[in-house]
Amino acid sequence: MNQSLSTPSLILLKALKKACGFQKPEDLVVKIHLSKSQIQKAIKEIKSFGYEIESKKEKGIRLVGITDRLFPFEITENLKTKLLGKNIYYYGKVGSTNDLGKRLAQTEAEEGTLILTEEQTKGKGRMGRSWHSPPFLGIWMSLILRPHILPSKAPGLSLCAGLALALSIKKLTGLDAKIKWPNDCLINKKKIGGILLELEAELDRINFVILGLGINVNQTQKDFPRHLRKNATSLRIELKRNVKRVLLLRLFLESFEKIYLSFEKHGLSFFKKRIKELSSVLGKNVELSLGRKKIKGKALDIDDDGSLLIESKGKKFKVNAGEVTLR
Ligand code: BTN
Repeated sequence: MNQSLSTPSLILLKALKKACGFQKPEDLVVKIHLSKSQIQKAIKEIKSFGYEIESKKEKGIRLVGITDRLFPFEITENLKTKLLGKNIYYYGKVGSTNDLGKRLAQTEAEEGTLILTEEQTKGKGRMGRSWHSPPFLGIWMSLILRPHILPSKAPGLSLCAGLALALSIKKLTGLDAKIKWPNDCLINKKKIGGILLELEAELDRINFVILGLGINVNQTQKDFPRHLRKNATSLRIELKRNVKRVLLLRLFLESFEKIYLSFEKHGLSFFKKRIKELSSVLGKNVELSLGRKKIKGKALDIDDDGSLLIESKGKKFKVNAGEVTLR
């Protein structure tokens, strides 16, 4: 699978983006120093990557729609972040972006590095599960973070990412996305996104965190394996239309950067209210599974470090890991 545009295509694309309106081929020849046949070939290639180019005999050509491929140069265009996504590794197909992220982080990749792929063949979920990551239909990504926090505070990062995702989905689509403690994002009670945090740390300092995020964007029901259909959804299923993944990814990076930087300095304090408002479990009767241990009770609150407070049989428990189901 060819993952990037050739240099002439990139030059033409840049010129079309800059121009906005129609461009005559003879003017382009002068402007970008490509021959007419190179331009024709480039138009074909650009279109084959999903860009829409309109051509009119008297007026020339113009760009009318961008691709849905997650090309790094599309993501960084107008991206308002200082840290996240400044450095992007983009692939057509990999095993797991988290595994790649770990290897890169061990070789000094800088904080904020984004690993992004169109497809995963060994996508990992929490608790040893797999994560279905079909080509071009979702966002399968990992971020390398090097937060100056104690390892015990790291679980809070899941909530930060969940909040950023819920807010970005709401902003782009208007859908009412919820956060399911500790690491899921739901729409209409079905899973739209999941977060997998992996940590390399000493007792009192974090070397790096790999924050893996999977977002179901343009799958139809049939694109999910049967066993996932009951509990998983995508933006396309909810909206009955496709969503541009690039736009969602940009919004997520911008929103998560703000929340992450605040979390690093102040813990969850500035965003806790918002996390609680968007929580799908607070105030509800839940069952928490932690390995073989199960606690049935009421989800009361979220602590400043991201732990969940549960009241069970008159006692209060503070938990910082596990899987919650509504009873
Ligand atoms: C979960 O809900 O169980 C977490 C799912 C996390 C999936 C993402 S997809 C990109 C990144 N790479 C992986 O192998 N997993 C995470």
